[in-house]
Amino acid sequence: MRFLPSAIAGIVILAAQAADIPPDMTVPEKTRMLYGDTLFTSPGVPRLGIAPLQMSDGPHAVREEQLPDRWGSAHRTDDFSTYLPVGCALAATWNPAMARKHGEVLGAEARARGKDIILGPAMNIVRTPLCGRDFEYFSEDPILTGAIATEFVKGVQSQGTAACVKHFAANNQEADRFDVSARVDERTLRELYFPAFERAVHEGGALTLMAAYNRLNGVFCSQDAWLLDEVLRKEWGFRGVVISDWNAVANAQEAAIGGMDLEMGNGPKNYATLAQLVADNRVPLATLDVHVSRHLYLRHALGMDGGKPRPPGSINTPEHQAAAREIAEEAITLLKNKGNLLPLDFAKIKALAVIGPNADLALGPGGGSSEAKPPFEITALAGLKQVVEPGTEVLTCSGVDVAEAVAQAKRSDAVIFVGGLDKTLDCEGRDRPDLALPYGQDALIAALAAANPKTVVCLFGSGPVTMDPWLAKVPALVQVWYPGMEGGVALGEILAGKINPSGKLPVTIPKRLADSPAHALGTYPEKDGVADYKEGLLVGYCWFDRRRIEPQFPFGFGLSYTTFALSNLAVKRDGDGAHVSVTVKNTGPRTGAEVVQVYVGPAGKGGEGEPVRTLREFDKIRLKPGESRRVEFSLDSRAFARWDVAKHAWVVPTGKRTIWVGTSSRDLPLETSIAF
Ligand code: BGC
Repeated sequence: MRFLPSAIAGIVILAAQAADIPPDMTVPEKTRMLYGDTLFTSPGVPRLGIAPLQMSDGPHAVREEQLPDRWGSAHRTDDFSTYLPVGCALAATWNPAMARKHGEVLGAEARARGKDIILGPAMNIVRTPLCGRDFEYFSEDPILTGAIATEFVKGVQSQGTAACVKHFAANNQEADRFDVSARVDERTLRELYFPAFERAVHEGGALTLMAAYNRLNGVFCSQDAWLLDEVLRKEWGFRGVVISDWNAVANAQEAAIGGMDLEMGNGPKNYATLAQLVADNRVPLATLDVHVSRHLYLRHALGMDGGKPRPPGSINTPEHQAAAREIAEEAITLLKNKGNLLPLDFAKIKALAVIGPNADLALGPGGGSSEAKPPFEITALAGLKQVVEPGTEVLTCSGVDVAEAVAQAKRSDAVIFVGGLDKTLDCEGRDRPDLALPYGQDALIAALAAANPKTVVCLFGSGPVTMDPWLAKVPALVQVWYPGMEGGVALGEILAGKINPSGKLPVTIPKRLADSPAHALGTYPEKDGVADYKEGLLVGYCWFDRRRIEPQFPFGFGLSYTTFALSNLAVKRDGDGAHVSVTVKNTGPRTGAEVVQVYVGPAGKGGEGEPVRTLREFDKIRLKPGESRRVEFSLDSRAFARWDVAKHAWVVPTGKRTIWVGTSSRDLPLETSIAF
């Protein structure tokens, strides 16, 4: 078998071709390559010079070294790494260049730690705001997810490390994640749950992909030939290695035939079984060879076969820490700023209270496989201390003692409340029980706001929480996400006005859980092992828009310290698609960045089950005061297409299509239509 030289984004495969499967490679050597040996390695074949594969979690830091046979710290002192803003934060930048940067740091740090594969990005669609891993994931929207994931993959792979896009597919809840079957119709898969994976594979060139634990329409994703062979390989052209989620494979024969190339977990439980299956010809030798050839292809693409030099990588550099800070600066999202309380004028603040459970808490550790072990983490309190004027008194407490907190608030010129969620709630393996803020924060925020009208609420976490108990009482609200090891600096700079916030929500924040589709329809949690995705395409803002439900804060929303105006929308047909252009002007007093968002409606009014409009393109534009720019978008035919199940193809319905341009899913001042 020969591999033709090809260019995969970020990894140029040099003229040298991948090696054939060595003719004297034995069947046991071949089967052995298909299993992990330690928790995060697969062995290779030393006799033939085939190197082992070294893997590591996770999406926002190279994880601390684990014990060889089970999850648990190896208690080393040489495995600190840069903790980058988590997935939801990265998506909140709405800036693919930030995703590229994030990937480059991760890829370089993985190389420096001797890793070949980094197990990320985690890129499942946010279907319910309760999912324990929503903080790792990007968005409820496939276009935003796809744009961020693709650049993330390119960044990782530009450093000689393979990315592993995960968890394919429909792994949208942690409850019962090992068994639950997602019942999803094909159109919804093709238009909502698949496109980001498709793009990360096709355009991003992802070299590995992790199959999800769950079942999709009754079949375990790790053993689903339709998913892994038909869709992923034949339709999307994936050439790399499919890796199982850890201990996910239940049936070795179905996995081998279903397209699984590498079974991982704590112990190669199916290795002997596969050897026997091959001996009995229940797994054909030709199938085994196909799996082995993909392993060799991966090693060749990474330069592990000596065909090209591999970058040595670097770790914990000031540049990587600066990248973490820059991403955080673009991620932090301003949601409310009544009377322009922010930015605070620190020259006038003689005493500042920084109060709340997350004020001085390091949030990199914990949360499951994406945990981070950075050499340091600048908390909100530490970051704020860097921006106050010399001599300012900084009062602080966790808020457990409310009387103490209220006393501090009264004594201060302004209050920064720092709370939200933490990694006991945003956590792999379980979902949040509800949308409530924990630890009595609702009452604490209300008490602080009553004590001091200049109370700024800063929330860490994956996003949606109920806010009604206090939102009307506070003038300012900042969504901080989990902003990485330099997050406290970024928050301080934003509150002080040194950085103008430009983050936008990658998810809808509902007023109450029952407003979200899976909860409104009672399909979360699953029943009898089946999560019935009855809402179909109406996830996130698509549900809120179609059902005319007012969200607390809409998808795509985020304020700035300046203002922007959009004008002169022009749309014309361009080949199979359309060309959209619009002028954006900074009409306020500061340099800032706005995310221009293009939404497209269905043919006609669309059916009850179809979104009123979906995001198709976006661009983040930085402008000086008074500056304006013409922003151009090329929408290909896919932007107007729907998946036709009967025809098994994308079709563009004829008729009039509405195009909206604006700065959030609920602020779309410009509208026009175009005929197809
Ligand atoms: C998680 C994966 C992770 C793997 C290895 C699994 O439980 O679902 O995302 O990469 O463990 O730690």
